[in-house]
Amino acid sequence: MGIQRLGVVGCGLMGAGIAQCAAESGFQVWIKEADGALLARGLKRIDEAWERALAKGKATGTQCGEWRQRLHGTLAFDDLAACDLVVEAIPERLDLKLQTFTHLDQAMGPEAILCTNTSSLSVAQLSPVLAPQRLSRLAGLHFFNPVPAMPLVEIVRTLATGAETLAALQTFVKDLGKTPALAPDAPGFIVNRLLVPYLLDAMRCAEQRLASVEDLDTGMKLGCGHPMGPLHLSDFIGLDTMQSVADVLFDAFGEPRFKAPALLRQLVAAGRLGRKTGSGFYRWEGEKRMEVMPL
Ligand SMILES: NC(=O)c1ccc[n+]([C@@H]2O[C@H](COP(=O)([O-])OP(=O)(O)OC[C@H]3O[C@@H](n4cnc5c(N)ncnc54)[C@H](O)[C@@H]3O)[C@@H](O)[C@H]2O)c1
Repeated sequence: MGIQRLGVVGCGLMGAGIAQCAAESGFQVWIKEADGALLARGLKRIDEAWERALAKGKATGTQCGEWRQRLHGTLAFDDLAACDLVVEAIPERLDLKLQTFTHLDQAMGPEAILCTNTSSLSVAQLSPVLAPQRLSRLAGLHFFNPVPAMPLVEIVRTLATGAETLAALQTFVKDLGKTPALAPDAPGFIVNRLLVPYLLDAMRCAEQRLASVEDLDTGMKLGCGHPMGPLHLSDFIGLDTMQSVADVLFDAFGEPRFKAPALLRQLVAAGRLGRKTGSGFYRWEGEKRMEVMPL
């Protein structure tokens, strides 16, 4: 069950990062998007990362050329058919993920492993659209943002996930130079179950004007040694993703600490989704965080 060819569905923040890491680690990668413009935008993001690596002397021109040759963009599920593993990284909506897994189950060979990069949904909820013999080859493969920099990948097993599948995924994660952690199929897995209430609490503090956005971030950064403060990190994750994840966790546990604050809903409704739309708690210029935006 060795993995050599990887399929990725969705070339957004996470899918692009996963595809980039896999191409750099020697895998042949096919990445599928919803339309040509989105595919071009996603592939450009990967190319820009490689250009930066080249400019900083972290990669040679030959290496960048090899990575580019291993990366294949497509708009068709059928082009993923030869892949040993497909990782889905489309928006955090069960209806969309069910549609995608229906297509994948039909397009892929019987041996292929299907994984979701969901942050919060139950992996087993995808089972009804899969053939019964696929269920031992369904798992979660939860990468962290930004994928090239973050060393952890949670491998999420359902009650049906086979031992061979888990072993193949552990090898794959190690081949990417990352560390696997086995997690149960419970909402939020390990990291988000602990992280999300903290991020939502920081938003409640901002909402109640406990301190300014900047001071909340600086406090946790310098006081706790975190690489970025909670509101900065939320912008980085995407406020729409934060809202979806909070809704799933609140639905599952019913505890107020998982409830999306009104401020988060207002920002999402206003189209301030964080870094990806150029504004959230902060204004963004591409990758660069600028000044705090008014609340
Ligand atoms: N953002 C994070 O920090 C983070 C971290 C870990 C996991 N995740 C999870 O990863 C998944 C993706 O999140 P993201 O932040 O990359 O979202 P994103 O919005 O940046 O990217 C999603 C991409 O999927 C594409 N897409 C939608 N439908 C498609 C289809 N049918 N076929 C192909 N492509 C399609 C969209 O065009 C978009 O480019 C979500 O489940 C999210 O919860 C996100």
